[in-house]
Amino acid sequence: MDGPSGSGKSSVSRGAARALGLRYLDTGAMYRAMTWWMLQQGVDLTDPAAVAARCGEPAIVSGTDPDGPAIHVDGVDVAGPIRESDVTGAVSAVAAVPEVRARLVALQREIIGAGDIVVEGRDIGSVVWPDAAVKIYLTASPEARARRRSAEVAGSTVEAQQEAMARRDTLDSTRKTDPLSMAAGAIELDTTALTLDEVIAEVLRLVKE
Ligand code: ADP
Ligand code: CDP
Repeated sequence: MDGPSGSGKSSVSRGAARALGLRYLDTGAMYRAMTWWMLQQGVDLTDPAAVAARCGEPAIVSGTDPDGPAIHVDGVDVAGPIRESDVTGAVSAVAAVPEVRARLVALQREIIGAGDIVVEGRDIGSVVWPDAAVKIYLTASPEARARRRSAEVAGSTVEAQQEAMARRDTLDSTRKTDPLSMAAGAIELDTTALTLDEVIAEVLRLVKE
């Protein structure tokens, strides 16, 4: 399940995994965890060489339970801190560093290889697991995505969210290594006018097809 921020990847993937009795992996949380650690360490995130030099150090461990996806860095539970605005604002720069991607993609492939799973991210169908049985690319209008995100973040306006998301979308889709794009063979699903339950039902239909 790939797509831009706020298209519904996490909610839809977790709902589908629950309904299908499958594991679930949030690869964005892994990039966020790497970014959280870099910020803790005071690494200069505007210097890709500095990020590349340190990215092999943190132990990043992802859970795969759709009811409570866990993420730990060097044994510390970072599920809360990785959603803070400092991480959200910096994650696209860290995720653009090829060495970071190589390391996290290898970890993701290890988890995926252990058995059937629903995986969400930006490059799952194109790079991480091109042989996936079902590839879905979720979209929604920029306004709908910003409205959804601002409803989740206390004190934020739709306009500010839309601006921040547009900045991240541009960085994610123009980076040189594995940019956000629709994978060959993916089915595009526009969720703008659908409810979450309708999107999950459509995904389950596509899986059973
Ligand atoms: P992403 O992982 O793509 O950033 P999320 O699943 O985190 O997206 O966020 C989507 C938010 O929008 C959730 O709060 C979800 O409940 C809400 N939402 C509202 N309508 C829909 C819909 N049709 N499809 C998916 N999510 C929806
Ligand atoms: O929840 P949201 O869609 O806003 O973001 P996320 O899935 O948590 O991903 C955070 C960031 O990680 C993205 O903006 C990308 O920069 C990066 N990412 C990536 O490069 N590749 C992935 N497979 C997943 C996330």
